[in-house]
Amino acid sequence: MIVLGIETSCDETSVAIVEKKRTNNFGKILSENTFSQIKKHKVFGGVVPELASREHSKILHKLVRKTLKDSSLSLKKIDGFAATMGPGLLGGLLVGSSYAKTLALSEKKPFLSINHLQGHILVSRMGKKIEFPFLCLLVSGGHTQLLYALNFNKFKLIGETLDDALGEAFDKTAKIMGFGYPGGPIIEKLALKSKKKNTFKLPRPLLKEKNCDFSFSGLKTSVKRIIENGIKQSLKNDLAYDFQDCVTECLLIKTERAIKLFKKKFRSGTLIFSGGVASNQFIRSRLKMLCEKLMIEFVVPELSLCVDNATMIAWAGIEKLQNGETGDCLNLKPKPRWDLQTIC
Ligand code: KG4
Ligand code: ZN
Repeated sequence: MIVLGIETSCDETSVAIVEKKRTNNFGKILSENTFSQIKKHKVFGGVVPELASREHSKILHKLVRKTLKDSSLSLKKIDGFAATMGPGLLGGLLVGSSYAKTLALSEKKPFLSINHLQGHILVSRMGKKIEFPFLCLLVSGGHTQLLYALNFNKFKLIGETLDDALGEAFDKTAKIMGFGYPGGPIIEKLALKSKKKNTFKLPRPLLKEKNCDFSFSGLKTSVKRIIENGIKQSLKNDLAYDFQDCVTECLLIKTERAIKLFKKKFRSGTLIFSGGVASNQFIRSRLKMLCEKLMIEFVVPELSLCVDNATMIAWAGIEKLQNGETGDCLNLKPKPRWDLQTIC
């Protein structure tokens, strides 16, 4: 089974062709090409939606042709065409999904409508046997959620951020500190150079609340106040460390609660950490230690599959196709807001 996937929900134009092997049921990337628009948006300090959709439409056709060429396959060999249909920026979603629909129509193969978050979650199953149900901590630029993945198409939300997503908090904090975009990798690098930990008192909201929800906007405001009051350049490394340490503690406490709830309901299982923020090595190592303590398997995708990519969209398409979830998706419209609990 071979699926071509297209991801255009934000500032990466990505195309991938993934094959599901009969021998082990795992996925193999036959080819993938990603064009990052980060340089174009950097000067504005964040993603400009109109610019993003123009850039997607400029490059998508070339990327599809290159990805087919790299895989040495013709369109005839593709069993389905998958595209991100939401959540994300409407212009970009329209560019990618219209292109995939056109390919599906012309080749008389299914068009597979994929929820971007579902892609982030399912991609962990591409190279490893992970049975449903499992617990998922999904942390990206737009989302921070704890979910039960009940099957490939059914998710139950058990906690989420009440304000900023964690990736967004990393980006805004880096901007306040005078650094570029995306902020996550920049803060992680600065934190590695920190010489003195716990220099700054930063708020840890909602930790006492007996739920699995998060809040990160107050933290950003605290960093703003510290910067406005003036700090030495050298102390910015320590501030980056304290910020990262603070958000990690928030993730750990709520994830521990979620693991306990999950184990009570399902006895054993796996925690999957996914989304762009899952690239962060500090947070990964702390979550791994937590899972060892609570005796639950910990899985995190390889770095290139944490941030936005079309492989995860093609793989989610394969999971849909093999479960017969093809339907008539050609008349579906992209959904800029698309809750994972309403995908089926
Ligand atoms: O999943 P993703 O590529 O796009 C969305 O679906 O949002 O996530 C992008 C987010 C950005 O906010 C970026 O700052 C964050 O992931 N990110 C990181 C790291 N790498 C990317 N955050 C913390 N540490 C990192 N190493
Ligand atoms: Zn994403």
